[in-house]
Amino acid sequence: MSDGVFPEGFLWGTATSSHQVEGNNTHNDWWAWEQAKKVRESSGLACEHYQRFEQDFDIAVRLSHKAHRFSIEWSRIEPQEDCWSDEALEHYVKVIQALRDRHLEPIVTLHHFTTPQWLAAQGGWVNPKSVDCFARYTQRVISVLGPQVRYWITINEPMVYVNMHYVEGVGPPGAHDLKQALRVTEHLIRAHAAAYRILHESFQEGNFHPQVSVAKHVPVFTPCRSHWPIDRWVTAYTDRIFNQAFLDALMEGCWFVPGIARLKIPEAQGTLDFLGVNFYGRQFIRWGPSPGRWFGSSCDLGHHPREVTERTAMGWDVHPASFHATLSRWARLGLALLVTENGTAMVDDHRRWSFITRHLQAMAQAIQEGARVIGYCYWSLLDNFEWAHGYGPRFGLVDVDYSTQQRRIRQSAWRYAEVCRTNRLVQEQ
Ligand code: BGC
Repeated sequence: MSDGVFPEGFLWGTATSSHQVEGNNTHNDWWAWEQAKKVRESSGLACEHYQRFEQDFDIAVRLSHKAHRFSIEWSRIEPQEDCWSDEALEHYVKVIQALRDRHLEPIVTLHHFTTPQWLAAQGGWVNPKSVDCFARYTQRVISVLGPQVRYWITINEPMVYVNMHYVEGVGPPGAHDLKQALRVTEHLIRAHAAAYRILHESFQEGNFHPQVSVAKHVPVFTPCRSHWPIDRWVTAYTDRIFNQAFLDALMEGCWFVPGIARLKIPEAQGTLDFLGVNFYGRQFIRWGPSPGRWFGSSCDLGHHPREVTERTAMGWDVHPASFHATLSRWARLGLALLVTENGTAMVDDHRRWSFITRHLQAMAQAIQEGARVIGYCYWSLLDNFEWAHGYGPRFGLVDVDYSTQQRRIRQSAWRYAEVCRTNRLVQEQ
């Protein structure tokens, strides 16, 4: 690329997920978790996107987007085991049609943190049966939606899912269990592999040739005390578990972490057509006895006043150079990269734009140096339900007033729209 111009056909857009925006997803495990008061706020009506998707896609068009990533809610499609809702399937047919009518390329996620309650009641992803259940669901979805969709994300942030739900226990089932975490990891890999095959086998002339990946959260892990060998070691180990082992499994069919396990999963070999990259910032890691965690403890970023100079409203580190580093690193897999999420919760919208523009610069640099990046989805189109954090954090390009469901386009959205429209990033002084 030259003069800040991005590759032709670059997929500029945003991402959302069903439970975070649709509202009333009453049949999944997160809903049950919320009703059991395990989190302070319930998702409730969310952004009523299930009803308002056309209006929201009109906004995306006004903002010159070219693509939109969203997830299908498994628990709507299959609210009871092996009972399928034609109405829900028909809804997603309409969603994809609405995107196509607006020339927005759909990027479809099959699993974004939520699992049907009937499966959760049988052990969820700890139960090996989850692999076949996910395969059957995938089969059902693509038999209806397949012809219209090119880009598929099987599972969103598999290792974040494992960590959140089975290690830190901040989502259902609230487990702190390393054995379960390992089993869930294995089942997610097998489920991805099964879905990959089904998606490819379903391909027929005249349809879109499926391009399949996971959306992999690939943070840059950094030692808290870089002069402490033990911190450096635990940081490398965390990277191995969280990033490398998972991607090795999908590239080579083997998940290996010394001291934990070597899992041969031959069916997973070669099951990435591109890599979906989610990136939010650096994570600082230190050695420390922390029961229930399989990673080294994350440091409080406050311990790093010299290194962490800027934080989001979530308290997360802002470090665009690490975005460049992560894109450059994973480009070496030899696959095209699609940024399936990058974004920030900010109270001050100027800071949101500052975050976006610096991350786009970092991405432009990685592309210039040879990384094959084919698109960028800002997280998120709308303010939405941020899991255990409820409705406080505002990630949206579009502000949502939850009491009236009014949408208000933020300034950062208009500035991002200029990039989407011109396919160019003008360097700001
Ligand atoms: C998840 C989203 C989440 C976002 C911001 C990603 O890890 O895929 O569901 O809202 O980060 O926390």
